[in-house]
Amino acid sequence: MNPFSLGSFPATRLRRLRVDDFTRKLVTETNLSPQNLIQPLFVMEGEKQTEDIPAMPGLCRYTIDTLLEEVAELQDLHIPAIALFPVIQPHLKSDFAKEAYNDQGLLQRCIHQVKTTFPHMGVIADVALDPYTSHGHDGVLNSKGEVDNDSSVAILLKQALSLAKAGADIVAPSDMMDGRIQMIRKGLENEGYTMVRILAYAAKYASSYYGPFRGAVGSASQLKGASKASYQMNPANSHEAMREVAFDIQEGADFIMIKPGMPYLDIVYRVKQQFKVPTFVYQVSGEYSMHMAAIQAGHLEEQAAIMESLLCIRRAGADAILSYFAKKAAGWLKAGDLP
Ligand code: PBG
Repeated sequence: MNPFSLGSFPATRLRRLRVDDFTRKLVTETNLSPQNLIQPLFVMEGEKQTEDIPAMPGLCRYTIDTLLEEVAELQDLHIPAIALFPVIQPHLKSDFAKEAYNDQGLLQRCIHQVKTTFPHMGVIADVALDPYTSHGHDGVLNSKGEVDNDSSVAILLKQALSLAKAGADIVAPSDMMDGRIQMIRKGLENEGYTMVRILAYAAKYASSYYGPFRGAVGSASQLKGASKASYQMNPANSHEAMREVAFDIQEGADFIMIKPGMPYLDIVYRVKQQFKVPTFVYQVSGEYSMHMAAIQAGHLEEQAAIMESLLCIRRAGADAILSYFAKKAAGWLKAGDLP
């Protein structure tokens, strides 16, 4: 049936459905709730400190104790999960990212503390080597200086197991190596972590919108402008994203993720239509910075623009959204302000 043959003017006036607030509410197709939101948080060594992140106004890095205070607030706002990203001290970075699987490492200690204090808060731990490598890549290099797939996967597996051991509910490989989901799933099963979930950054693009994040975790100075295009996806490609997602599901991912968010909503839509699996979207650091710059300059109205951005990501097909706006949005939703 052709939906456009169902009526004609004036029998059909679509504005009747927009004429007042109650009608608009009744015909709303998409909603946004705190339960759809995941807050990414940056953690660093130290005590009782927070440190502002200049490129991401309003956000800061936390030490373990201040992290716990923040998590308490997020829990009160009904945010179901957080995603943790560590700032690793320069002297702990190395060519083969040994610190990534140190059971007493910063991220491992943070996970343990959060899970001990807030057992109901979901904790997502990133699996990738970029905070830990001296060159800033997500994997390790071979003798030719290329990011080597299989030796990287072997280290990512050790990292994932260390994070699971620390208590992570969800491990989230964001490295884009081939076959890592399969290896991590097998490793988790073998070690008895059968309920640890894998959130696969399945379609992760080589995007310029990650710039502020790399400043926040301090990997930009290591990377020195080097490209991640040999492992992250080409922004020109969409069919390839479908293959990436298909592989990750087949290899044992529980949720898949598309990243970045707003410029890639066609990918979100296609993936959700095709696979109908839990689909997450990462509204990345550059999207945050872009919004905040325009808001601070007075060009965008803060609440309306932020809520619209999140709602549109949901409309495209996202079940949950990792967003640096999660806390702010949950605060507005608590006050009863719907997007
Ligand atoms: C690391 C990682 C990155 C992000 C999440 N995990 C950076 C990158 O791939 O260079 C980006 C998140 C953001 O920009 O907010 N593998």
